[in-house]
Amino acid sequence: MSGITLCVNIDHIATVRQARGVNFPDPLAGARICEENGAHGITVHLREDRRHIQDRDVIALREVVRGKLNLEMALSDDVIAVARRVLPDQITLVPEKREELTTEGGLDVKGHYERIREVTEMFKNDGVAVSLFIEPDEETVRLSKKAGADSIEIHTGRYCNLFDRDPSRGVSDEETNRELNRIYHAAGIAGEIGIGLNAGHGLTCGNLPPILEAPGLEELNIGFSIIARSIFIGLPAAVREVLAVVHGAASGGGAPCSC
Ligand code: PXP
Repeated sequence: MSGITLCVNIDHIATVRQARGVNFPDPLAGARICEENGAHGITVHLREDRRHIQDRDVIALREVVRGKLNLEMALSDDVIAVARRVLPDQITLVPEKREELTTEGGLDVKGHYERIREVTEMFKNDGVAVSLFIEPDEETVRLSKKAGADSIEIHTGRYCNLFDRDPSRGVSDEETNRELNRIYHAAGIAGEIGIGLNAGHGLTCGNLPPILEAPGLEELNIGFSIIARSIFIGLPAAVREVLAVVHGAASGGGAPCSC
């Protein structure tokens, strides 16, 4: 069985709640269901604009989550203050622009090197593991290690967009394979220099199998496709479906998937 772990990103349970300004659906209940159905942890993104997850959610999740609590966050002072109060198991530093729909690119580790190094050191001193969400780029992997990060999370968004492309856009398989090879290369460098390897963004049951082949992959962070799929088949089944792909690929079986 695969040693790759799955942290379910439950932001979009909160997106639905915030759309009505009511108290349901409750992300805490969602976290419990994900863990009861095999997820190894829960990921949330506390955005600067608090568009979905709220401070109170993160505080309460610390008590509820039994596996890993991974908090995605930008380098913003007020979010850092919440994170230091909660002390999740892991923080994942991400870039953030207010107007974006979701996290669009990886962290500019070179451009913000000193700040990233300082914040990484601070959280590590607090006993919190630090992961950096980066593009699959060799120099950025090496800089992440130099900055003291425990892990990198490879941004799979570009690969997923290419894999899931509308055929009318004329994107070739070569382009998709080139992006996949960038991911494999970055993964190889991570293994060589000794930094942990996570992956996430845009992953679905359909586009996941090639990502599982990345050498040394430890953790997946998957949100939107699981929450979207749960509308039709329920959250327990949606979590199990992804886990079946993770385990199926590892045993060479290729799990059935209807995403
Ligand atoms: N990893 C990071 C760093 C992210 O910012 C996100 C989106 O919040 C995800 C993983 C999950 O992406 P998706 O919701 O597309 O599965």
